[in-house]
Amino acid sequence: MSQALNSEKPETILSVRNLRKFFGINRAAARKMLQEGAGKSDILKRTGVTVAIDDVSFDVERGKIFALIGLSGSGKSTVVRCVNMLQRPTSGQILFEGRDIVHMDKKELYELRRSKISMVFQSFGLMSHRDVMGNVAYGLDVRGIGKGDRERKAMEMIELVGLEGWAHKPIGDLSGGMKQRVGIARALCNDPDLLLMDEPFSALDPLARRDMQFELLSIQKKLGKTIVFITHDINEAFKMGDTVGIMRDGRIEQLGAPTELALSPANDYVKEFLGSIDKTKVLSVRHIMITPSCLIREQADPVTAIREMRVNDVSTAYVIGRKMEFIGILALNAALQARHDNLPSVASVITRDVPNVEQNVLIGDIIGLASETPFPLAVLDDRGRLEGIVSRAAILSCLL
Ligand SMILES: Nc1ncnc2c1ncn2[C@@H]1O[C@H](COP(=O)(O)OP(=O)(O)O)[C@@H](O)[C@H]1O
Ligand SMILES: [Mg+2]
Repeated sequence: MSQALNSEKPETILSVRNLRKFFGINRAAARKMLQEGAGKSDILKRTGVTVAIDDVSFDVERGKIFALIGLSGSGKSTVVRCVNMLQRPTSGQILFEGRDIVHMDKKELYELRRSKISMVFQSFGLMSHRDVMGNVAYGLDVRGIGKGDRERKAMEMIELVGLEGWAHKPIGDLSGGMKQRVGIARALCNDPDLLLMDEPFSALDPLARRDMQFELLSIQKKLGKTIVFITHDINEAFKMGDTVGIMRDGRIEQLGAPTELALSPANDYVKEFLGSIDKTKVLSVRHIMITPSCLIREQADPVTAIREMRVNDVSTAYVIGRKMEFIGILALNAALQARHDNLPSVASVITRDVPNVEQNVLIGDIIGLASETPFPLAVLDDRGRLEGIVSRAAILSCLL
């Protein structure tokens, strides 16, 4: 409960600072070449050292998903392996709940992996001679938890991941997606604060994969776990990550929320990398709405309305009421007709049933609506006041 109450306030659970990992003997020479600006492949050729991670820093907030993405060999796995010290960093800090795990002794590390940080692997890493229950309860077994308690806890996790009825089936009977559910249940059984997932869904077929993404998001929502999620699929990274880091050659090219990356990629590499994302699932109305250039009062007389539209060079104006509430759209033709008919105001010629949307709706969810209406959609706040408009062109450009 207290966790839920605190969840408003961001808290950094993991802070990786200037992390470096070189593989090879001649690391001093490699470091020198790096300082002189040499590239990874030159360094490998000349010194035999692989620069797997070069000065990586990022923070992960408690209860959030941090997605790390990059091509194969860009250093993603090495980052997560350093975070639970399966690999010792060449330099840098890994602050977990404020403590640098690089300097922990064996016993502390053992404790950390047993109760604070769990890992889920792409290859599932299950024991085929044990059944589902035996795999999920394994960690608790190792900790010496009695059979009754560990099986109760394990069953809870088995149900959480949607495997009720499968507890006593052999691993060999399970599909890939189900095996990964077991992997997740096993990782959750220790009730860790941080879950490390290294391409957990990459071995699954696309349908099972989508299923598991959805499943993991709902488990995460339920349990509020912090997750570092590795993937090489940009759409998966954007779907899962509250924050996304894009890696290239051992460095992070850009860090940010999916919307930030989509709206302002830091460089051409990121831009190209994001090329295949579906922007309609990332951007919402507020990212593409614009301010209407011509606003008219409902009681305006036709001559004033026409003058306003001419000044602003538009053929439709947005009509608002006394409290800024949105009334509808006035077409230039209708205003001209009103003037011709000597009407006292434009009130009777306004188009009033204009579809409207809220700022936070995803663009993907308004494509249908936009394609059915001839004018831009009105963006209204919760009191019905006009905040902006979304043109069809703006919506279409997100589809490109
Ligand atoms: N144990 C190791 N020994 C030597 N080189 C390694 C080792 N592990 C990873 N590397 C190298 O480090 C780089 C980053 O690898 P990795 O972290 O596995 O990338 P990713 O997970 O993004 O595919 C690669 O060039 C890889 O060959
Ligand atoms: Mg990897």
